[in-house]
Amino acid sequence: MKTRIDFMNMKQNREPITMLTAYDYPSAKQAEYAGVDMILVGDSLGMVVLGYDSTIPVTIYDMIHHTKAVKRGAKNTFVVTDMPFMSYHLSKDESLKNAARLMQEGGADAVKVEGADGVTDIIAALTYGGIPVVAHLGLTPQAVNVLGGYKVQGKNAEAARKLIEDAKKCQAAGAIALVLECVPRQIGEEITKQLTIPTIGIGAGCQTDGQVLVYHDLIGYGSGNVPKFVKQYAQVAVTIETAISHYISEVKKRSFPEEKHSFNMKEEELNGLYG
Ligand code: KIV
Ligand code: NA
Repeated sequence: MKTRIDFMNMKQNREPITMLTAYDYPSAKQAEYAGVDMILVGDSLGMVVLGYDSTIPVTIYDMIHHTKAVKRGAKNTFVVTDMPFMSYHLSKDESLKNAARLMQEGGADAVKVEGADGVTDIIAALTYGGIPVVAHLGLTPQAVNVLGGYKVQGKNAEAARKLIEDAKKCQAAGAIALVLECVPRQIGEEITKQLTIPTIGIGAGCQTDGQVLVYHDLIGYGSGNVPKFVKQYAQVAVTIETAISHYISEVKKRSFPEEKHSFNMKEEELNGLYG
């Protein structure tokens, strides 16, 4: 399994780090089989697999539940689990307890937290406790109602300067990596240059140290529109819907199940039954 040291070396060697979300056993198995460098059990699971319209309803229990399934599918891949909404804001104690549960019960190798203001102390406390932390800046979906929507962050010089400062603070607090979501590519590149820890971008241009995408977006297994920063490498939903339609029509026509899908009783046993 790759660890924090490997990710640091990859940054130094300019070898891009690949990260993909996974939320269950089969997706984690596929991600590991394909060879991603790390898996994120993102709280995006609230929207992608639980059908909420934001990540806000996601609980620590949801994250533990899904992390356990992912780790069973990807035992040899570094798994980062999101700390969900309000699970790292109430107090240092609560934050430590919640993060410890993600590791001890879920099996996560690291946790991820959003934001810098008020959060860098938590990053330091978790790190002190032996819990590796990935920071997340730019568009931070748990704060969507504070930000006023899912919008590109750090577009003007002042906001960009704050982002760069926040990134440095997260690194100083002990973060092992930084996810940068939805920022101008120039800022993705600048922060990547200024930090010694790896940056992992999503909608942050191609000069970050790594990239992350949501599993369902990448394979086209979602519903509806995807953001501008997503590239869909397949349209799996179409394959699935076609398969289900065929199943329905074959059952309606009694052409499924066929002989080969059925169990047979021997002639003499049938005679015994009816004879
Ligand atoms: O929850 C998630 O999937 C994320 C990524 C988009 C970085 O946080
Ligand atoms: Na997330």
